[in-house]
Amino acid sequence: MSFQQVLADARAQSDWIVGLRRTLHRFPELMYEEVKTSQLVCDTLDQLGIAYERGIAVTGVVATLGTGESPCIALRADMDALPIHEETDVPFRSEVDGKMHACGHDCHTAMLLGAAKLLRERESELRGTVRLLFQPAEEGGAGGKRMRDEGVLDNPGVERIFGLHVWPKLPTGTIGSRAGTFLAAAGEVEITIHGKGGHAAMPHLCIDPVVTAAKVITELQTIISRNLDPLDSGVISITTVHGGEAYNVIPETVRLSGTIRALTMDRFRWLQDRVKTLASQVAAANDCSATVEFHGEAYPPTVNDADVWSDVQDFAAELLGREAVHEIPPVMGGEDFAFYTERVPGCFVGLGVSNEATGCTYHVHHPKFKVDEDALPIGSALHACFALQSLSR
Ligand code: NI
Repeated sequence: MSFQQVLADARAQSDWIVGLRRTLHRFPELMYEEVKTSQLVCDTLDQLGIAYERGIAVTGVVATLGTGESPCIALRADMDALPIHEETDVPFRSEVDGKMHACGHDCHTAMLLGAAKLLRERESELRGTVRLLFQPAEEGGAGGKRMRDEGVLDNPGVERIFGLHVWPKLPTGTIGSRAGTFLAAAGEVEITIHGKGGHAAMPHLCIDPVVTAAKVITELQTIISRNLDPLDSGVISITTVHGGEAYNVIPETVRLSGTIRALTMDRFRWLQDRVKTLASQVAAANDCSATVEFHGEAYPPTVNDADVWSDVQDFAAELLGREAVHEIPPVMGGEDFAFYTERVPGCFVGLGVSNEATGCTYHVHHPKFKVDEDALPIGSALHACFALQSLSR
C-alpha cells in the first residue's frame, strides 16, 4: 500500500472536499443544533454507500467501514460552529448572522468525509473496522463525552483513535503534535458578587459589589503568579463582567465569568478550589458574599499516546517529508477529544492551515479566521492513512 497514492487520490478529490467544506461554512450551526450539518454528512455517506447510525448524542453520526470485526479504530471530526459574526472576505461567508465556523470544524467534517471516500475506495484492503465519528458540541457542550457515554467506542471496542484540528500556527503542508499532554484541562467559572444596591450618592448606605468585583478580579491574578509552582502551568482568565444599569445606581450584584485551565486534572481541581476560596474571602472582607459556580462539563487534558504519535509521525513523514512533522509544546486550549483518549490510546494532531500569501493568518475563534483549503486533502489523507496503517500493524 502506498501512502503517497492516498495523498494523490485525496488531492484529485480536492474540489469535492472543498465543496463540502464551503457548504458547511455557509450554514454554521451551534452545539447540539447541527441538524443540517448531520443531514449533509448522512447524504454524503449515502452517496458513498457507507452504512451509518444517526441521532447519537442528539445530532452525532457514526459511520462504519470494513469488516465490522476487531481490530477497530476510530477517526473523529467535530461539527459545531461558534456564536461569532464572520468578518472574512471569502465568497462562501456565513449566511447566518452571529454564527461562524471560526474554529474550522467545517474543515474537520469535510476532511473526514474525504477520508470516508478514500477508505471506501480501499474497503477491501481494510483488515478490521474503521468507525467515523461525526460529533456535535465540541465548543463547551462536551459532545465527545456524550458520544463516548452512548457507546461509540464499543462493539467492537476501539483500539486507537485519531483526530485533527486545523492549526493556524503552522503553515500548510505541515503538522504538529506531541507525546503526552498536548492540550489543557479546561472549564468555566461564574462568580456572582452579592452586595446591597442603592443610590450612588449614598455609598455608606449600600454595600458596593462593583468595587468588590474589581478586587476579586485583581486578587484572582495572584493564584497563578503567587500560589502556582512557577514550573507548573495554569490559566485563570476573567472574560466577562456584568453589573449595573444606571450611572447613579449601585447595583445589587455583579456577575463575572471566565475560564480555568491546567495541564493535569489534579491541578485544575486545585485551581477551582483556590478561585472559590479567594473569591469568597475577598467578598467577605468587603461585606459582600460570592457565589462561585462551575457550569458545564470540565474537559480533561488531551493526552496523546506515545506509540500512536510515533506511528503518526512515520506515515506523516512519508506523506509530507520528515521536516514537515513537528514536535510542538502543549497549548492551554481545551478539546473534548480528551474524553476519547481517557478511554483508549489516541493522538490529536494540529494540521497546518496558515498561508500568508492568501491572508490565512488569523487564529481560531477570530472573526477573520480563514483556512488555506490546500490543507484539506492533506487532512483527508492523514485520516485515511491512520486507518490503513493502524489496521495493517
Ligand atoms: Ni475547535
